Amino acid sequence: MQKVLILDFGSQYTQLIARRVRELGVYSEILPCNVDIKKIQDYSASAIILSGGPSSVFEEGAPTLDKKIFELGVPILGICYGLQLTSHLLGGKVVSSQHREYGRAVLKVLVNDTLFDGVPKQTNVWMSHGDRVEKIPEGFVKLAETSSIPFGAIKHTDSNIYGVQFHPEVHHSDFGKKILGNFIFNVSGIKADWDMANFIKMETQRLKDTVKGGVICGVSGGVDSTVCAVLLKNALGDDKVFPVFVNNGLLRKNEAEYVKSLFDSMGYKLYYYDESELFLKNLKGVDDPEKKRKIIGHTFIDVFYKASKSFSAEYLAQGTLYPDVIESVSFKGPSATIKTHHNVGGLPDKLNLKLVEPFRELFKDEVREVGRQLGVPEEFIMRHPFPGPGLAVRVLGDLTKERLDVLRDVDDIFISMLFKHDLYSKIWQAFSVLLPVKSVGVMGDNRTYENVVALRAVTSVDGMTADWYHFPHNFLAEVSNRIINEVKGVNRVCYDISSKPPATIEWE
Ligand code: XMP
Repeated sequence: MQKVLILDFGSQYTQLIARRVRELGVYSEILPCNVDIKKIQDYSASAIILSGGPSSVFEEGAPTLDKKIFELGVPILGICYGLQLTSHLLGGKVVSSQHREYGRAVLKVLVNDTLFDGVPKQTNVWMSHGDRVEKIPEGFVKLAETSSIPFGAIKHTDSNIYGVQFHPEVHHSDFGKKILGNFIFNVSGIKADWDMANFIKMETQRLKDTVKGGVICGVSGGVDSTVCAVLLKNALGDDKVFPVFVNNGLLRKNEAEYVKSLFDSMGYKLYYYDESELFLKNLKGVDDPEKKRKIIGHTFIDVFYKASKSFSAEYLAQGTLYPDVIESVSFKGPSATIKTHHNVGGLPDKLNLKLVEPFRELFKDEVREVGRQLGVPEEFIMRHPFPGPGLAVRVLGDLTKERLDVLRDVDDIFISMLFKHDLYSKIWQAFSVLLPVKSVGVMGDNRTYENVVALRAVTSVDGMTADWYHFPHNFLAEVSNRIINEVKGVNRVCYDISSKPPATIEWE
């Protein structure tokens, strides 16, 4: 399999580059820019892409590269900071600019070059940079410019080293995908061979070769863990794979029944543990979000420990995805933890289980495709993401069964209304939050003093950034009416109109 290596200089778009390359049917992986040149050589990439990044090449401590990379004979495309660094290292001149250029620009293509095959002579591209290249290194030629920068794209005359100042990976670059495709297929001569049928075949073989004992799969009701269990069942057989579904008391309404019936319909046995009392007991009186996550994580581990004894399993499978893995290795150094998400770091020794993560290299849309190909029903595949700590991070304040039940009823109405109005599939994630405040209302002739809920619905591509969904007002009116009339204990409904950033998707 041919591979494209992406070296990350800390750009917010690095993952997007990897996704675009994979959409073109070519496997790609991200490594931090400061990996050793030996590792880069050993990786045997068929092409290398240098990502953008927030630094200035002449800043102290700015990320750099071993110049030997340009002598490997592997085609290289530098994007934004990648272009600037290439120019800087090879003897060109980069200057800092008074103002950042951010947004759309018109790229004028000046030279007929393979990189721009099938791209109009003038095309919209997306820019996001402060510095710019003022003089290109010897041996390079200019391919394109914009009205504000002299070097929109450059290439080396004798080797396949390219650089572009704009971001071809971003949707707003009209022919961005075409340009990336030209670099991969025409410049680098790579053949497209990455697809999910291929992945399933290879991963199945790998699992058969390496996993020799029983495997417990933690199934949460989410797409990733479910597809993971199905892949393992297919690969290793029913008697070796034990999908364990723990009811932690933090699930949505009827969720346990739904997941059980899904596994039933696919003919797979599901091992169900109702541990809701244990979780709620451990969470009693805790309202700090990070503490909640930690307690839930530890309780899960205790429950799995108990379960692993009854199965004599040697492995634990998790549906960890590539974005979680990248997050933990990306070139930002030890960046601040905004929220503790998945356990990418490994497992506590106590468990004495080896970790199996078949989707460590996949993006969510790729996992959905794997699920489809393995026969998981479409309705399930297209479910919105649901956080591991469940409703614990959506009930703010006192975490009691009564308050969880209120939220479950509210959320059930909200989500069913989305289906009724054919809105569910237009939204990336929708849910309700129970706030830790009460508000005064009036019902009939009586004053009420009840709970406030917030509804949240966002559009997003990968959960990294998100915008709130613009519902028609009459939809919001209908949902609010139903919630206040049907759910006892709620007298006010708000709609969350915050985007991410600066807000996050979940409230905690
Ligand atoms: P935030 O709130 O960080 O959420 O904008 C981004 C996406 O991640 C989900 N999320 C989590 N998933 N464990 C998970 O498995 C968590 O602790 C967690 N926190 C947030 C969130 O639902 C959204 O899809």
